[in-house]
Parts: sequence; C-alpha cells; structure tokens
Amino acid sequence: MGNIGVAVIGAGGIGTLRAQSCSQIPQIDHLSVCDIDKTKLDTLSNKVNATFATTNYEEAIKDEKIQAVIVSTDEESHYGPAKLAVELGKAVLIEKPFVLNLDEADDILAISSKTSANVYVGYTQRFRRRYLLAKEAVDAGNLGDLVMAMGKIYVTRAVGEAVASRSPNTTPSINTLTYMVDLILWYMEGKKPVEVYAKSASRVFKKYDRDDFQWMIVTFDDGSVATLGTSWLPPHHWPAYTATMEVDLQGTGGSLNIDDSHRDVVMAPENPIPCPYTPEHEVNVAFLGSAMPGDFALGEFFGPMKEETDAFIKQILQQGGVGLATADHARNVLALTMAADNSCKNGTPVKL
Ligand SMILES: NC(=O)c1ccc[n+]([C@@H]2O[C@H](COP(=O)([O-])OP(=O)(O)OC[C@H]3O[C@@H](n4cnc5c(N)ncnc54)[C@H](O)[C@@H]3O)[C@@H](O)[C@H]2O)c1
Repeated sequence: MGNIGVAVIGAGGIGTLRAQSCSQIPQIDHLSVCDIDKTKLDTLSNKVNATFATTNYEEAIKDEKIQAVIVSTDEESHYGPAKLAVELGKAVLIEKPFVLNLDEADDILAISSKTSANVYVGYTQRFRRRYLLAKEAVDAGNLGDLVMAMGKIYVTRAVGEAVASRSPNTTPSINTLTYMVDLILWYMEGKKPVEVYAKSASRVFKKYDRDDFQWMIVTFDDGSVATLGTSWLPPHHWPAYTATMEVDLQGTGGSLNIDDSHRDVVMAPENPIPCPYTPEHEVNVAFLGSAMPGDFALGEFFGPMKEETDAFIKQILQQGGVGLATADHARNVLALTMAADNSCKNGTPVKL
C-alpha cells in the first residue's frame, strides 16, 4: 500500500491538530475533514488544504477513497462515527476516552472482531518520549517486577471548564485521570486491577455538577498497588499550558521517576500571552512545550499528537507504528475510571 485517504471527523481544537498532523504526512494523498459547524469546517478545510469537506460524517467515512478515520468529535459524539468506520472495516483512531459507556465500547469491539477493523484510542501522552522510554525500561525488566506506582495529572481550571461545558457525561476521572490510568495499566501490563477505592470533592466545579479532583487507589491481582490522582484546580494562569504530570514507578529491581512539570523551559514575556489551548485566558509566565498535544513552531506542528498520528498511519501502511493504545485496553481504562467515580459516590471500594 503506497498512499492513503484519511477522514478527520470533528474540526474543533483536537480535530484541527489531527488534520494538521495528517497534512504533514506525505503518504496521505486524500484528506477529508468534517464538522457539523460549517464555520469551523471551512476554517479547517482552508487551513489544511483538504481535498474534501462535509458536514455529514457518513458521507466522509463512506467515501471509498478513505481507508482510515480519526474521530475527534467531542466526548459525547464518538460512538456514531466510530461505529460506522468499524462496520465498514476501516481503521479508526478515536480520541480518548474512547466512548462514555461500556455497552458502546463493547459494541465497537464486537463489530471490529467481525470486520477486522483496527481500532485505536488516542492516548497521546504515550508519545511524549519520556513515557515511551519508561515502557521500554519496564518491558526490558530494568525495574524488576513493578509493584507500586504513583501518577498524577493536574490540568488548569480553564481546561476543566472547557471539558465540563462541552460534555455533560464526563468527569475529571473519565476525561483527565484517564491518561494516567492508561499509562499505569500499560506499564503494569499482565496484571489485572481487582479493586479501586477513590475520593473526590466538589467546590469550584460545583456549578458544573462536577468534582474538582479525584484520587484513586487501585489494587492489582498480585497485590501491586497504584495511587493515581487528578485535579482541575490549578488557576487559569498556571504556567503549564494544559497539564502538570508526574509518574513514579517502584519495582523489585529498580525505581523510575518522570517529572513532567515542564519547569525546564520558562518564558516570562513583558506582556501576557494567550494560552494556546484556551486562548481566551492569558499567562504571564509560560512553561514552553507544556501543551499536551504538542506545539506549532515555524508553521509546522510538532509533538506527541503528531507522532501518534504518524504511528496510526504507519500501522495502516504496515510500515511500523508502535505504542498505540488498542480499543481493548481503552475499554479497561474506561471501566476503571467509571468504577472510581462509583467508589467516590458510594464511599466504598469497588470490586472490578
Ligand atoms: N489526545 C489529546 O491530547 C487530547 C487533548 C484534548 C482533548 N482530547 C479529546 O479530543 C476530543 C475533542 O476535543 P476538542 O477539545 O477538540 O473538542 P471541541 O469541542 O473543540 O471539538 C469537537 C468538535 O466536534 C464537532 N462535532 C460534534 N458532533 C459532530 C458530528 N456528529 N459530526 C461532525 N462533527 C461533530 C463539534 O462541532 C466540534 O467542532 C475529545 O474526546 C477530547 O477528550 C484529546
């Protein structure tokens, strides 16, 4: 297979970055974009010089020139386009958190096993090189048997507000902690989570009927334990554009710590600058390189979302492409984050 046609469904913040990534991949010779919002559609279509633009995802996905589909709609609207692509046997990359209920996830998995469609979920932080290197170290046995892990991901209030406004059924756990759950389940591959106990509270995000933060303790079938937390509380002007992360892995044969707070590149402009992810908010001090998907430099897009999109296309072209999260794995991540939310509600540990 030489060249390839790709449809990007959803022309919001992330669909724009996916389409931009696709426009930088030489093997993509047909790029369709789709959004129900005509203004966003036209803006993106012009920006990436799309070969086809439509407000109807069925038209984009059914097009026989399309072999691969990227579903970048908001969290509530992944299922329809993802299901159609899988039914047609087309490879699909769905943005996290896959879908918002386990029946939909299981339906997509069942259809894909019949049509042999390759289904992946966009856990983009895997492609920030430090997290890939950690996976390499764990798989190489450099840490021995991984028995304890800590992971945190804090995002700014601006990110929490954007998520809470667009998606009534998502929570800090399902939307944000999901990245950390993905990474830790990936690193702990082979171990099965058997119980989760979680705590949360709601003050700042009460008006959205959402929690401000959550910490969960996950127990695995061999007694290993992971403590994973998220917060939507850092103020709008927090210098990390989207997230501040840390991972700590402790094994019988070694330890590994990832400081992903981005304090290594600090810029203090005389005048405040817009935050790239939520440009309606300005920052006085910026940790450059801290935008989770990646950054534009000199007119091109660089970073984990570009590399993840590259890996997806390489997989389809059978030219490599490692590190993608499978839909099976993403289903387990979703189940764990939903169970943690139930634990918070019930005040008791939840068996998995
Ligand atoms: N991997 C990452 O780093 C990362 C980062 C942020 C968000 N995300 C995920 O990406 C997804 C999109 O987030 P976003 O910030 O771009 O949201 P957004 O609201 O900016 O964009 C979503 C777009 O989908 C469009 N849409 C909705 N229903 C549609 C339909 N039926 N057909 C066509 N278009 C439709 C909307 O009009 C909107 O333009 C979410 O699932 C989010 O969780 C991933």
